[in-house]
Amino acid sequence: MARVFVTRRLPGTALERLAAAHDVEVWPGETPPPPDALGAAVRDADGLLCLLTDTIDAGLLDAAPRLRAIANYAVGVDNIDLAATAARGIAVGNTPDVLTDSTADLAMGLMLAVARRLPEGLAAVREGRWGRWAPDWLLGRDVHGATLGIVGFGRIGQAVARRAEGFAMEVLSAGRPGGPGPSLGDVLERADFVSLHCPLTPETRGLVDAAALHRMRPTAYLVNAARGPIVDAAALGAALRDGVIAGAALDVTDPEPLPADDPLLDAPNLVVLPHLGSATERTRAAMADRAVENLLAALAGEAMPFPAP
Ligand code: DGY
Repeated sequence: MARVFVTRRLPGTALERLAAAHDVEVWPGETPPPPDALGAAVRDADGLLCLLTDTIDAGLLDAAPRLRAIANYAVGVDNIDLAATAARGIAVGNTPDVLTDSTADLAMGLMLAVARRLPEGLAAVREGRWGRWAPDWLLGRDVHGATLGIVGFGRIGQAVARRAEGFAMEVLSAGRPGGPGPSLGDVLERADFVSLHCPLTPETRGLVDAAALHRMRPTAYLVNAARGPIVDAAALGAALRDGVIAGAALDVTDPEPLPADDPLLDAPNLVVLPHLGSATERTRAAMADRAVENLLAALAGEAMPFPAP
């Protein structure tokens, strides 16, 4: 029996399967274990099941000499120092595919929310500001028939493109630099919606900076359901205030959680959700299944079925 530390209770029954095979300790808190507690918990652990909110760096790994498998409960693995895990021969897995459609659904919701001004309409109803139907009240822009620029044409980007077909959108996709298709600059300049679906890497950190925002159309919207630091938050706030773009809808921010007094929240035409892309009951349980499958395989000396890229 191996010792496994799990940094949060998870939906579904996957942890029961893990506990049937191994000696499992689950962090009982509603917030991530602080670094000291995480360090203490992994000291004797052979396996770790962690969340995107847990920073797994070289210092933590040095405190975990027995660790041989890490299953991240996310498809993104930017919270893990992959060079440090590779150097120590620690297997790392993620949870691809099972969250693709839920996240793509949410990206479409973000587009609709910001372009059709859904939060403003909801607030008006709740606050008693719903007057008579008026020809010019809360007018937005159409999603159907618009041009959608997808930055990062992986699983989720492609799933968004499939949904966009149903909205009769023209889809432009910018993948890796040098790859086929339009460049990032083309996409920024031509799209009515620029939707980010690339992983957070050193190359994509700050990809959407002031210069990128100024290449977008003044009528265009930015959508981010990937990772907050891909967008320069200060530049985005300035672009919204100055009318450089029409609006933005974010499911991810930098930092997370975004404090209620963060200056970005004062910007106009901004929709912010608290990182809900994969937040459906079925998807979160399926993510737990994948993470546990990864750990069970690695702790049995086998290859993880879903190794981190
Ligand atoms: C991920 O998996 O990377 C998402 O951000 C959370 O589901």
